[in-house]
Order: sequence, then C-alpha cells, then structure tokens
Amino acid sequence: MALRPALNHIGGAWVESASHATVEDRDPAHSDRVIANAASSTAADVRYAIDAAEQAFPDWRATPAPQRGDIVRKAADLMERRRDQLARLLTQEEGKVLAESFAEVDRAVANVRFSGGEGTRLTGETIPSAQRGTLIYTRRDPLGVVACVTPWNFPIAIPAWKIAPALVSGNTVVFKPASLTPLCATEVVQCFLDAGLPDGVLNLVLGSGEALASALVDDERIKAISFTGSSAVGRALYARAAQRLCKVQLEMGGKNAVIVLADADLEKAAESVATGAFGATGQRCTATSRAVVAKPLLRDFVELLGSKAESWKPGDGLTDGVKMGPLVDAAQLKKVKAKIADGKREGAKLVRDGSDPSGMGMNDGYFVAPTIFTEVDPRMSVAQEEIFGPVVSVIPADDIESALAKANQVGYGLSSSIYTRDLHSAFRYADASEAGMLHINLPTLGGEAHVPFGGVKDSGFGDRECGTAAFDFFTELRVVYVGY
Ligand code: UN1
Repeated sequence: MALRPALNHIGGAWVESASHATVEDRDPAHSDRVIANAASSTAADVRYAIDAAEQAFPDWRATPAPQRGDIVRKAADLMERRRDQLARLLTQEEGKVLAESFAEVDRAVANVRFSGGEGTRLTGETIPSAQRGTLIYTRRDPLGVVACVTPWNFPIAIPAWKIAPALVSGNTVVFKPASLTPLCATEVVQCFLDAGLPDGVLNLVLGSGEALASALVDDERIKAISFTGSSAVGRALYARAAQRLCKVQLEMGGKNAVIVLADADLEKAAESVATGAFGATGQRCTATSRAVVAKPLLRDFVELLGSKAESWKPGDGLTDGVKMGPLVDAAQLKKVKAKIADGKREGAKLVRDGSDPSGMGMNDGYFVAPTIFTEVDPRMSVAQEEIFGPVVSVIPADDIESALAKANQVGYGLSSSIYTRDLHSAFRYADASEAGMLHINLPTLGGEAHVPFGGVKDSGFGDRECGTAAFDFFTELRVVYVGY
C-alpha cells in the first residue's frame, strides 16, 4: 500500500491537524515499514470537532429515528462490501491474522446492522396513572454531543459498536480512536459518510489520548463518553468526568479464567484455553489468561495445552498458514516480556517460554510466541495483572469451591468459563462467578452483536455495550404526563 495521510474529519471535511503535526503509523509485523502519516491533533482540533458536532446536533436530533437507522444500516452494507479491503488493512495496521480480521469486520457489520434496525424500535412505555384522565409515557431522547474513545486491539469493531448506537439514538459524535490504528478509524468513518451521514454528525480526531484527554473530558458540551481501554485510564477518566456529571461508560481490562473440573472434556477444555490465550496474540480483553484446573487432570491438561501451543506459530498475519500475529508495538512487546520475567522471578514454573522467538527469523516485528506457566499461585503477578499477550497461567485447584475462589481472586471481572459435564457444578458456577459474561463449556472469548457486552469489578462500569443495552447509555429517559 502506498504511503498516505490519515486525516481528521471535522464538519464534513477531511483536514490536517491545525498544528500540521503528524506521526508515523507502522506495520507491527515489519516495524521498519511506515504505512501512513497520521494527524497528531491538539486540544484545538478537539474543540473544532465539538463545535461541528454541536452545530449538527439539532437537525440530526430532528431526523426521525428510522431514517437515522436507515443511514446506519447502509453503512453496514458498505462495510460488508469493503470486507476484504478492511480486513487487509486491519491486519497490516494492527497485526492480527487475516482470518481474525475477517471475523472482526463481520462482527462490526452485524453490530452496525443491529443498531440500524433499532431506529424503528426506539420505543418507550406507557404507564398507568393514579389520576383520572391522565396518560403517562416515556421517551428516549438523545444526549447531545457524545465522545467515543476506542482502543487499537479491535480498531474496526469497537468503533462500529459504539458509533452506530450513538448515531441511531440521535447524538452527534466525536470519535477519538487509538493513535496506533488511525487508518482503520478513517475507513470506519468513510463507511458512515458514504452511507449519507450529514456533515458534522460524525467527527474524527486522531492523536494521542494523553494530548487530547482533557479537551474531551472537561468540555461541558460533551454529554457522554464511551471508553474502552485500560482500567487505570478508565478510572481517571471517570473521576474527572464525574466533576461535571458527564455520563460515562467504561469497558476495561480482564484477567479471565477457565475452570476445568475433573469431569471435563479434556480435549475441548484445552482447545478452549489455547484459542482463548493465544488467539489475537492475547491482545483482547476477553482473552483467557488463567486456567484453574482440577488436580487429577493437571498433568494431562498442561501436556495437551503445550502440544496445542506448538501450532500457534507467530508471523506476518497476511502470510498463509500463520496463526498468530505480532504484538502491536515495541511498548507492548517490552511490557509482555517484563511480565513473563516477573512470573519467573516469583517462582511460577515456565513450561513454555515464548519471550524470544528471534531464532525463528522473527527479528523485524514485535513477536512473542505462546507462553505457559504452571503451578501458579493465584497471588502472583502473572495471575493478577492483565498481560495482553499470548501468556497463560495454570493454577491447580482441589474442587469446584476452591476453583471458584481462585478464579474470583482478582480485581477484574469481565469474562469467565467452566468446563464440566455436571449440571450442579455448571449452575453453581453461574451463581458464583464474579464476571459479567459467563460461559459453560465455551471459550471466554467474544460476544454476539445483539447481546449486551461488559464486565464487573475493574472490568466495567456503567451501561453495557452492544445489544439494546447500548441504547440505554446513549439516550436519556424522560417522562411525559398528559392530562386529557
Ligand atoms: C472480544 O474479545 O471479542 O478491548 C471483544 C477489548 C474488548 C472487546 C473484545 N473491549 O478487547
């Protein structure tokens, strides 16, 4: 792909940052390959974007919801038509393998299409009044200008599933994507524009979160912020936005466990942990990073997981047969290696060390191979902290109660899973697992487009994303009393 600029989109025009500054956008599988020069925006650019969104709001709000939905559904059709181009760009810019990129684009399409349909279903309720001759009904109204702040690891699907319900609800949007994936962001915006979105309804500001955070979070005109990213940044954002009572939705990290009981289907459980831990190079908040395994199965489980890990060879995600792409950048590579070193130092047993795959001819990208720790104590850092790399910690447990206690012994609570054939154990798990998304004999990964997505504890705060729950976040509930 020829080098091209990645620009902001403000008030209906593609524009440079007012500062004219740019940063290089690189291919993580070939760190010397620059694929774009992206706008490096400032607080002034954020203000222009908010101005444009504010101006566009009255007319967008007055556009009937089914018409807003029609435009958003057209954006889904365009995304689907551009599937190949979007998936290739995603692999080149973020690194995940092509099959994963196709799955991400498909998920974005499903989300946007679902949200578009909700334009005809933005219903309220009628409530019986205690007074004669009185009708009470509820309405769901847009909030105004909202901000969507998104991460690099799902740079097409997450923007799609935030922006689509925000727009269908009647809000205008300032979209601030991760600075590592500007081209994916511009392509997502292009689909909405080509679908017929009026000028100023969706505005894109590229640049670093640090530089732009206060301009977004402190501006009184931003009525809600939907954020996906780290728990540390999410907490800081919420504390700050709370000062001015701005609505906030946070989707943050995970430290997801699969519990494998003694009666589990061993093959299915090991396959689930391998896919959960090594898929997307471990760079997803629903990744499996702990396996809590019943002691009688432990040896067989670790052996089977180790043999499955062999097939997850890292490489350029555009190359046929490569199952696992690189980490996204040098900082992520350094962080993952440091976490592996911490695990060794704390005494976890490293049965497969992927921290230096350079011998495999992997010198010019940010590669780590599958890494497995066993005999891990739940208090160790590898069992507590989010790693965001292809690293899994196996924790032995005696029975279901001790397995549940160990699985819950973390600050995070996004996703979890259990492998068992026993009905009692499965439902006991559903009662007791401290996570927002539970899985019985299924991997910890993912979520369907029309289903609420999100976690508890340090993993999530506020209304859920996706499904109809997303519309609770992006609308204000109001009540009308009518005397007749
Ligand atoms: C998924 O794991 O399928 O940032 C989606 C993340 C999540 C989305 C994950 N918010 O990884």
